[in-house]
Amino acid sequence: MKYFIETWGCQMNERDTETIAGLLEEMGYSPGKKDEADVIILNTCCVREKAEQKVYGEIGHLRHLKSKNPNLVIGICGCMAQQEEVAEKMRQRFPHIDLIFGTHNIHQLPRLLERARKFNEVQVEIWEREGEIIEHLPARRADKFKAYVSVTYGCNNFCTYCIVPYVRGRERSRLPEDILKEIKDLVEQGTVEVMLLGQNVNSYGKDLDKEIDFADLLQMVDEVKGLRRIRYMTSHPRDFTDKLIATIAASDHVCEHFHLPVQAGSNDVLQKMNRGYTREQYMELVEKIRRQVPGASITTDIIVGFPGETEEDFQDTLDLVKKVQFDAAFTFLYSPRKGTVAAKMPDQIPDEVKKERFQRLLELQNSISLASNKRLVGSTVEVLVEGKSKTNPHKLSGRTRTNKVVIFEGPEEIIGKFVPIKITEAKTWNLEGNVEHQGEGG
Ligand code: SAH
Ligand code: SF4
Ligand code: F3S
Repeated sequence: MKYFIETWGCQMNERDTETIAGLLEEMGYSPGKKDEADVIILNTCCVREKAEQKVYGEIGHLRHLKSKNPNLVIGICGCMAQQEEVAEKMRQRFPHIDLIFGTHNIHQLPRLLERARKFNEVQVEIWEREGEIIEHLPARRADKFKAYVSVTYGCNNFCTYCIVPYVRGRERSRLPEDILKEIKDLVEQGTVEVMLLGQNVNSYGKDLDKEIDFADLLQMVDEVKGLRRIRYMTSHPRDFTDKLIATIAASDHVCEHFHLPVQAGSNDVLQKMNRGYTREQYMELVEKIRRQVPGASITTDIIVGFPGETEEDFQDTLDLVKKVQFDAAFTFLYSPRKGTVAAKMPDQIPDEVKKERFQRLLELQNSISLASNKRLVGSTVEVLVEGKSKTNPHKLSGRTRTNKVVIFEGPEEIIGKFVPIKITEAKTWNLEGNVEHQGEGG
């Protein structure tokens, strides 16, 4: 029996997919191609409308697989499925779906799948509320040498544009001993890089009985022997404390990469977004990081066309982007999400205006990204080789500590190893280079 999982959205969803795969493998399924699978699971995202449209398109495509193989079980889970009205709509519109479950009851998959096989009607089970954190679920990790490790689940911030708090529940922190045990086990099996995951990792520990914050946790993880790189995702700029900067600066393994979603450069818009900081505070944070962590790269997320955004507000965003000089930015067109505060705000921005602003922002950021990459030409950087390059399968690709993608030639045996790469060329989205010599570094 084969399974196939398709995943949309963020790292939390990718991590959930690893759990789903682990559960399926415990049930005796093995990974397979889509057209030969006995179970297909779509792990969905609803953060923007575009993400949802892709999922609907894919569900439609699966109809023909189901008619070829009536025993195929099609399951929908993730953030779209967590919304009951969306689940109901999918159930009605796509009778070939067998199973719908949400983000809070992934661990029930074995039981739900058995039921879907047994009874000839769609099984829908969505927990309205998050339950206790469930530890020790199986996982089939996507990679051996790097791994996602969840530290918090859910989000309490309620940024007014964002659906995530509604589909991922309230903030819950895992116990530090559970996190450390997981990391130590991973390292024993060959993991050299971990990415600590949470919608806002900086609020780690606030809900625990112990006195512990994210800086303390990072320090503990930094001491795990054999671990070479520590990343984390995502940091809310409002909660980025001086203690956290100092901890990162003093650590051996926490990478010099700061992903700090700014979202907008206008104080007016930031306030309407409920972000809890001003542009001045944000820029001061960037200054502090650059002072204390030399060579740090700083990346961000920006939303264009939030309700009420004027040309002047947008100019503030462009101005902030010019001043901060981000190494890279993920830019998004604002997408109204049903149930969020911003979706009901007046002065929604017309699509043409959003798109035109988006284009200007993209051009500006592309030139800044390129300039930032060009500064590395001629230098030698430590790269963790991740696999074949997606853009050029004859080459390999890996990342610097600062999270820049480097493409180079080399034998497949070095996948999962650290190699020094001399940078020869800079592009907007990546760097190119050559292996300098085969160090013992893996
Ligand atoms: N917890 C993370 C990630 C949230 S989703 C954080 O706080 O940064 C990732 C990004 O999607 C956000 O940073 C934001 O830039 C974007 N995003 C979220 N909701 C959006 C919406 N309704 N429209 C457009 N972009 C959105
Ligand atoms: Fe969404 Fe804001 Fe929470 Fe990030 S911090 S997940 S943008 S509500
Ligand atoms: Fe999407 Fe859910 Fe992540 S909405 S961005 S998959 S938390």
